[in-house]
Amino acid sequence: APEPATLVIFGATGDLARRKLLPAVFGLWQDGLLGSAFNIVGVGRQEMTDEAFKDFAIEALKSSKETDAPQPGSLEKFRELLYYEFGDFGGDEVYSLVQKELDRAEEAHGGRKNALFYLSTPPSLFEPISNGLGRLGLDDESEGWRRIVIEKPFGRDLESARHLNDAIHKVWDESQVYRIDHYLGKETVQNLMAIRFGNAIFEPLWNRGYVDHVQITASEDLGLEGRAGYYEEAGVVRDMLQNHLMQLFALTAMEAPAAFDADAIRDEKVKVLRAVKPIPKGRVKQVAVRGQYGSGTMYGERVPGYREEPGVREGSSTPTYVAVKLEIDNWRWQGVPFYLRTGKRLPKKVTEIAVVFKRPPLGIFPGGLERNVLAFRIQPDEGVSLKFSSKTPGQEMVLREVVMDFRYDAFGAQLESPYSRLLLDALLGDATLFPREDEVDHAWQIVSGILEAWDGTKAPEFPNYPAGTWGPDAADELLGPDRRWRRL
Ligand code: BG6
Repeated sequence: APEPATLVIFGATGDLARRKLLPAVFGLWQDGLLGSAFNIVGVGRQEMTDEAFKDFAIEALKSSKETDAPQPGSLEKFRELLYYEFGDFGGDEVYSLVQKELDRAEEAHGGRKNALFYLSTPPSLFEPISNGLGRLGLDDESEGWRRIVIEKPFGRDLESARHLNDAIHKVWDESQVYRIDHYLGKETVQNLMAIRFGNAIFEPLWNRGYVDHVQITASEDLGLEGRAGYYEEAGVVRDMLQNHLMQLFALTAMEAPAAFDADAIRDEKVKVLRAVKPIPKGRVKQVAVRGQYGSGTMYGERVPGYREEPGVREGSSTPTYVAVKLEIDNWRWQGVPFYLRTGKRLPKKVTEIAVVFKRPPLGIFPGGLERNVLAFRIQPDEGVSLKFSSKTPGQEMVLREVVMDFRYDAFGAQLESPYSRLLLDALLGDATLFPREDEVDHAWQIVSGILEAWDGTKAPEFPNYPAGTWGPDAADELLGPDRRWRRL
């Protein structure tokens, strides 16, 4: 268990805290993973008593689908760990109240004043809160460790991400900073590293000699979910591509790290991100496709198009779908394209990484030659499958594709929420699953040209895919005549 600590959640009455963070903390605590000396201080701009916050938190736990079933009496005990402070994030007062909470925790438990500050607020508050904590010396580690967790989005482009990194570093050392990308907390994303580097049979094939191309897909069936205010500013490139898909890409393409530790792994991720062939604005047309959903049918029901969603600007050109071809200029991957795609209102929710191998060099059997595929299913139906050709029973030599399947549920364990994994890691001081400053920077560099080309330019083709379909036709052309997106 981590040392005694206080978790300070800024934006504690927000959506993320309610839906994800509080259930994750509760689950960890109930499993005994947080030790007995643990407190949670919610901080917000909204005036509220401790009691009201406790009610809010317990209500959130009861209503979230992600909350583990409470043992008898455990909600009541958890309630006692909760406190609330409020104030203006631009002033000093609220931070001195937080300071007092840490003093109180120390008096109650003894030990040191360890604190994890979790910024679960709109991004415009990241810098003011970081500065406020700094002004009051709350970053100072002489009385206990101090760490800061920063939610997404980390900047809205390269420039603002750099600005935010600089601002954060005026107060914090990089070793105290934990940038969240919840995809890295997913069990099967970590399994990708386990499979690649815990086995001898995959790595020898993991290169330009054997791989034809790689497809990374994160398709979502959900639409906007009432998030127009955020999404109209972000769009799919900032919301999914720059962070989640780039992370999946880096883990798939990176070299083997020398050790399973934070810096060794992050060094390798940065190396491969740096090797991605730049996509200047002028090249975007050749390597990227944007889309926006129109109305359509999902699961038998009519759903509105993006532009009809409440809060979306009339004639909005915000993309809800992107497909992009990345090329890597290094020895391992020269000539092997990585195709990434993600979108909202696609036919179903599925995240997958598929390594598609080259065809056998010579066809000696009737019929065409198929490519073998090793597919990592990140969610749902987590698992790994290998597709290859086999003889079908009978007199003739006829081949058919078959699939060998490993299902993650064979372990029989309930998969943890990514947030509980990441929160615990941050409390333990393990930054392996948190993107480092330079990773975030390189991921922004890769998508910069795309943002430049698309932001603010009208998309006369929008909407260009009906809800419930696999995105715009142009995405198929991106793969060329001899390759196809996997049917998922
Ligand atoms: C979030 C995005 O980061 O990830 C959402 O803001 C998206 O738009 C979500 O729906 C997808 O996460 P998951 O874990 O449901 O695949």
